[in-house]
Amino acid sequence: MRQRITKAIFPVAGLGTRFLPATKSIPKEILPLVDRPLIQYCIDEARAAGIKEFIFVTSRGKSALEDYFDNAPQLEKTLRKKGKTELLEELRQTDMESGAIAYIRQKKAKGLGHAVACAHRFIANEPFAVLLPDDVIAAEKPCLQQMVEAWEETRGNMVGVMEVPDDQISSYGVLDVKDDMNRLVAARGLVEKPSIADAPSRLAVVGRYILTPSVMRELRRTDPGVGGEIQLTDAINRTAMQEDNVYGYRFEGTRYDCGSKAGFLEATVDFALRRPELRDRFAGFLRDLPETKPEEKQVVAGALKAI
Ligand code: UTP
Repeated sequence: MRQRITKAIFPVAGLGTRFLPATKSIPKEILPLVDRPLIQYCIDEARAAGIKEFIFVTSRGKSALEDYFDNAPQLEKTLRKKGKTELLEELRQTDMESGAIAYIRQKKAKGLGHAVACAHRFIANEPFAVLLPDDVIAAEKPCLQQMVEAWEETRGNMVGVMEVPDDQISSYGVLDVKDDMNRLVAARGLVEKPSIADAPSRLAVVGRYILTPSVMRELRRTDPGVGGEIQLTDAINRTAMQEDNVYGYRFEGTRYDCGSKAGFLEATVDFALRRPELRDRFAGFLRDLPETKPEEKQVVAGALKAI
């Protein structure tokens, strides 16, 4: 029988320094876009793609994350007593079946690759997904679901990619393109944070991956690379050299880098404007801000039209 992707790793052990002081006591993944924590968007996306087992790589200070997915019997009892059935329904989204969720510790923040490798005991000889909750993707069909459908045809390793402007390319892992087939792009490998001159394309990797067990094996023997961290990119490249099976997938949707303040604010505006109960009031507020320049008013009008 053909293997399916049923396990996903969520590396959430980073320090989140860009959101200090808030992240001194709140994990970044619990910061809400409107009223739902970042992690909820990511879990919903994974569920839509058929993921059944959720593996969180955490660190000290992330207990709020574990509590978020736990039962809240007292709260539920109170809401039931007050007849707040809609809120009870909302709470149900945070319900995780017993045993479907695992938490493991990354003792030191040694990079994304190291965080993924920490989950190796949960991944037997099977492909798996990796989702970074910082990257929130608004899409009609959830991004990972798009990728899983494409992966059913290609197998191998697949990374979510999007075009970025020249001045941003050196902040990303970049695809070395072999064959551009529209949404699907066959790649020779990835280059981590290249200078503009060295960037092999303008296709940047975002936080969605489908990986083979070979990458997990490579990760466990990978030495620290750029910035002294163990890089996922290096392990993917080594697998690519041996197996020639790396693809990029140009997903449909808008990605927000919620690990940065500007990206988080942009996502907040977009997601608030998508909510029917907030849209008119919030759009009016943005339009009427005395500081809003005419071109910014146009952006709000454009965003509203697009939704
Ligand atoms: P980032 O590069 O955004 O780092 O990590 P960060 O620590 O979360 O945030 P800043 O840069 O200090 O503000 C990308 C993803 O990789 C995870 C993070 O939790 C985030 O989901 N990560 C990073 C780990 O799990 N462990 C690490 O050692 C590093």
